Amino acid sequence: VLKKIKKSGELVVGTSADYPPLEFTTSENGKTKYVGVDVELAKDIAKDLGVKFVIKNMSFDSLLVALETGKVDMVISAMTPTPERKQSVAFSKIYYKPSGEYFLVNKRDKDKYNSIQSLEGQT
Ligand code: ARG
Repeated sequence: VLKKIKKSGELVVGTSADYPPLEFTTSENGKTKYVGVDVELAKDIAKDLGVKFVIKNMSFDSLLVALETGKVDMVISAMTPTPERKQSVAFSKIYYKPSGEYFLVNKRDKDKYNSIQSLEGQT
């Protein structure tokens, strides 16, 4: 694949740009722009290889087929390496591990607001 990438001069990357802040779209002068942490990472990889960065946006479910059929050279889409997926594709090392989301309250309220549910109906 690396040979093919160098020869064609472009790295074709598949993503499902519906997952901010990792991959999503913005509109600039009516043009769709692909942005996010994953997009930047893929751009850097293309830059390191000295080739053009080409992004192909598709549904999350189409990504693995696109990779297996060579429609894209690599996938970057916040995809979790599950045992099932590992049977058909090769994952890189983990570069980002979501560790959970939090909200913060004043310490004196810690027993009052201790879950998302406890915030319900509060103004
Ligand atoms: N990490 C989850 C998974 O691998 C969700 C990823 C969704 N990514 C996306 N670009 N929509 O199933």
